[in-house]
Amino acid sequence: MGYDRVIEEIKSRIDIVELISEYLNLKKTGENYKALCPFHSEKTPSFVVSPSKQIFHCFGCGAGGDVFSFLIKQENISFTEAVRLLAERAGVQLKGYSRDTEGQSRRQTLLEIHRLANEFFHRLLWEQREGYNYLTKRGIREETIREFSLGYAPGGGDVLYRYLTKRGFKEEDILASGVCKKGENSIIDTFRNRVVFPIYNMRGDVIAFGGRIMHESTMAPKYLNSPETILFKKSNELYGLYHARKEINKKGYIVFTEGYLDVIACHQAGIKNVVAPLGTALTEQQLRKIKPLCRKVLLLFDSDEAGVKATKKAFSMIYENNMEGKVLLLPEGDDPDSFIKSQGAEAFKKRFGHAEGIVDFFFSTSRSTEVETIRELMQIVSRVEDGILRARLVKDISEKASLPEIFIREELMKQRKGMLDTSGSFNRSLPANSVDEMLIALLIGHPEYLDKVKEQLSPDYIENEMVRAIYTKIIQTKKDDLFAIINEDEKALVSRLLLDITFDEEQLDRNLEDCIKRMRERRLKRRLKELQEEMRIATERSDRELLTGLQRKWTELIKEGQQSGIL
Ligand code: UTP
Ligand code: MN
Repeated sequence: MGYDRVIEEIKSRIDIVELISEYLNLKKTGENYKALCPFHSEKTPSFVVSPSKQIFHCFGCGAGGDVFSFLIKQENISFTEAVRLLAERAGVQLKGYSRDTEGQSRRQTLLEIHRLANEFFHRLLWEQREGYNYLTKRGIREETIREFSLGYAPGGGDVLYRYLTKRGFKEEDILASGVCKKGENSIIDTFRNRVVFPIYNMRGDVIAFGGRIMHESTMAPKYLNSPETILFKKSNELYGLYHARKEINKKGYIVFTEGYLDVIACHQAGIKNVVAPLGTALTEQQLRKIKPLCRKVLLLFDSDEAGVKATKKAFSMIYENNMEGKVLLLPEGDDPDSFIKSQGAEAFKKRFGHAEGIVDFFFSTSRSTEVETIRELMQIVSRVEDGILRARLVKDISEKASLPEIFIREELMKQRKGMLDTSGSFNRSLPANSVDEMLIALLIGHPEYLDKVKEQLSPDYIENEMVRAIYTKIIQTKKDDLFAIINEDEKALVSRLLLDITFDEEQLDRNLEDCIKRMRERRLKRRLKELQEEMRIATERSDRELLTGLQRKWTELIKEGQQSGIL
């Protein structure tokens, strides 16, 4: 029995309603169940679970899928882990099945390489004094070195590479891990002569490194990160998150700083819910990653112009995600590390009481008029989905500007209306189902039509990219379980279609014909338009021969369209 069969077996033994009700308060409504979505904040439930289809979907944020998808999102784990957990629950033996696809075992190998490299660097930090002395000079204590498993990458070129090779790792895997790279004529270590900071994922695996030079130099970059690998995308990860997760939970908020050493210095000062992005501005993915942990963010940035700009950008993202933010600007030129060093941990902690909210911050840093500042703020407020949060912001703005709330509300209405008019998808309500979606929904519910459709529609008839990818997969597979062949993003889409689009069983043939006709019509029109453009160019170039050819094609297409009743 292969891995696919095991997955099917697990699914057949687990009821999605039972599983999800261990996490959420499900209420029966008609055939389905509803709850407040755990993946975004909302006041009225848009999270739907279907017992008959064994899927869930949130019509607010678009999350959706099967039992595996739910656990992956809810517990923030990988597919393999979700399979393991659910296998255990279902009493299905996993051992002995070829559970690892090639990608999975590759991942394991790269994790093992990182684990060993981390041990190696850390051991060298104690053995060779150079790295140790640097960190000590910067005020890092031994217990902290241990806790964050800080390390030392020696010079010498390929010390780590030789070590890993001796341990039996293949050159190909070592290179893919990013800890070594191709030099001019041999393979060299990526980190040489640097103190290294292992970067952990949420589960505590080392997935990358950051390294700092120990002597200021203009030749080498001060910090270096691992390249992007299958384990590591720097815009997705946050330094310190693994070490901060418990404290984030306890305190109910997360602190963002800018650098590795800021995280460590804060940690040493007793503030342990601290993380930093990896040399870039805060990203959407990073926010989404922490959202299940907490909804409040404290930004701890430099107060220079770049810091103010970064703070505004971060605030905008935070509120767009229905989260709340505050900011603490340190004196210009200071970062948490240097501030703690010069003023002490107590003075630093005291500052936390003076963090500014978004409204105060926009007013206190504004260089423009009050009206402009309000407008700028309103743009952010208008994107906040959560009504309570929005109301609180309106109140703050009206108090700050000494204007009656009604004026602010009116302005807000205008902005929100403008947004709804120009981009229909703003309020995340569903865009009208496209013909692409109709077709795929019909096929998923009625695979018996697949052969017929396959003959008439090649994938390039489908414009929506994700739908096209799904269609391409289902016309190639022989498997019954569609969910086994599509990825998590695709599952989210399919779960929506399954819950959202229902067909009158009597009218299936007509519906299908209608879809196909509309798609052919769409394609024909597109080709005519392209042809028109080509003819225009041919005319400009006075290329008579080409023009005649194109005109012939045009006539053919028109005839074709008329014959098949499209035009
Ligand atoms: P900073 O230049 O502010 O350095 O970079 P820092 O964190 O204060 O470091 P120290 O105190 O001089 O040791 C902030 C962050 O930007 C990234 C690193 O993640 C760093 O922690 N960075 C900086 C790079 O990725 N590359 C660089 O060359 C410099
Ligand atoms: Mn610093």
